[in-house]
Amino acid sequence: MVAINKYVLGASMVGTFFGASVLLKDYVGGGVCPSKAKIEGKTVIVTGANTGIGKETALELARRGGRIIMACRDMGKCENAAREVRGKTLNHNVFAKHLDLASTKSIKEFAKNILKEEHHIDVLINNAAVMRCPHWKTEDGFEMQFGVNHLGHFLLTNLLLDRLKESGQSRIINVSSLAHIVGEIDFQDLNWEKKKYDTKAAYCQSKLANVLFTNELAKRLQGTGVTVNSLHPGVADTELGRHTGMHQSAFSSTVLAPIFWFVIKSAKQAAQSSVFLAVDEDLQGTSGKYFNALKEKEPAKQALDEVSAQKLWEASARLVHLDEALQECSL
Ligand SMILES: NC(=O)c1ccc[n+]([C@@H]2O[C@H](COP(=O)([O-])OP(=O)(O)OC[C@H]3O[C@@H](n4cnc5c(N)ncnc54)[C@H](OP(=O)(O)O)[C@@H]3O)[C@@H](O)[C@H]2O)c1
Repeated sequence: MVAINKYVLGASMVGTFFGASVLLKDYVGGGVCPSKAKIEGKTVIVTGANTGIGKETALELARRGGRIIMACRDMGKCENAAREVRGKTLNHNVFAKHLDLASTKSIKEFAKNILKEEHHIDVLINNAAVMRCPHWKTEDGFEMQFGVNHLGHFLLTNLLLDRLKESGQSRIINVSSLAHIVGEIDFQDLNWEKKKYDTKAAYCQSKLANVLFTNELAKRLQGTGVTVNSLHPGVADTELGRHTGMHQSAFSSTVLAPIFWFVIKSAKQAAQSSVFLAVDEDLQGTSGKYFNALKEKEPAKQALDEVSAQKLWEASARLVHLDEALQECSL
C-alpha cells in the first residue's frame, strides 16, 4: 500500500513538474498572436523562409490563406520547405523563389520577376540573416552580415516599394534583434575594410541597421498607407548559431540545451511576432515602431538617432547603386 502511495506521489510530482515546465515554457514563449485574421487574397513575401523563424512564419501565414512567396538562396531547401508548408496547410498558393541577398544581381532578378508576376504585394517580411560568420564578403564585396542582413534587404525593399505603395495598406516587417542594443554604426568603415574583423560586432551593427532603416523608411512612407516596423523575435532554437562553436558542440547539445530549454523559444513561438505585425487589425497605421515579441518597446538610444538613420540610408543607396538598380528594374 505504502509502495503504491509512493509511486502515485512520485508520478504526480513528475506530472506537476512537467505541467509547470510546459506552462513556464509557454510564458517565456512570449504569447501567441492574438489576431485570428485570415489573409485570403493577400500576397506575402518572406525572405529566408526555408528554415527557422522564416519557415514558421510562412507556415502560419499560409494557414491563414495568404499567397506566400518563400524567397530563399538554396532552391533545393526552398522547394522542400514550400512542399512541407503546402502539405501541412493544404494551401497551394505557396511558392519557392530564388533570392540570394548576398548578390545584388540576384536581388534585382528576384525583384524583376516579382514585379512582372505579382500585381500586388501586401506584406514583405525581411527575415533572412546570417550571424557571426567568418570574415566573408558578398558577391559585391560587402561584409557578409552587413551585406545580407541590411544592404540586401535595403535594396530589395526599395525595388519593391512602388508595388507595395500601389497595393494600398501594405506592411513591411524588418526582423532585427535585441543585439541591436550593443550595435554601433561605423560610418568610416561600414564594411570592415580598415579595422580588425569582429564577427559579433558586425552582427550587432547589421541588426542596429535594421532598426535605423525601419525608422527612416517609416518617415519616407508617411501618407502612403504603407507601414514598416521592426522586431526582436526572442531567443529561439534555430540554425542561426550555425557559425558559432556553441551550436556544434556536444556540450551545448547535451548539457546546455536541456537547461536552456525553458528560456529558449521554439521557431514557431518566435514567429508569432512577425505574424502579429503582418496580420493584426489593430496595428493598421502603426509605423516606425520596434516590437519585442508582441509588445511595442523603445529600441536602444542609438536606434532612434534620426541623423544616423538618414546617413545610413544615403550610404546604403550609394553602396547598392540604388538609382541605377531602380532604373534597371523598372524597364
Ligand atoms: N534565433 C534567434 O534566437 C534570433 C534572435 C534574434 C533575432 N533573430 C532574427 O530572426 C531572423 C531569422 O533567424 P533564424 O533564427 O530563423 O535563423 P536561421 O534558422 O539561420 O534562418 C536564417 C535564414 O536566412 C537565410 N539566409 C542566410 N543568408 C542568406 C542569403 N544570402 N540570401 C537569402 N537568404 C539567406 C537562411 O538560408 P540558408 O538556410 O540557405 O542559410 C535561412 O533561411 C534573423 O533576422 C535573425 O537575425 C533570431
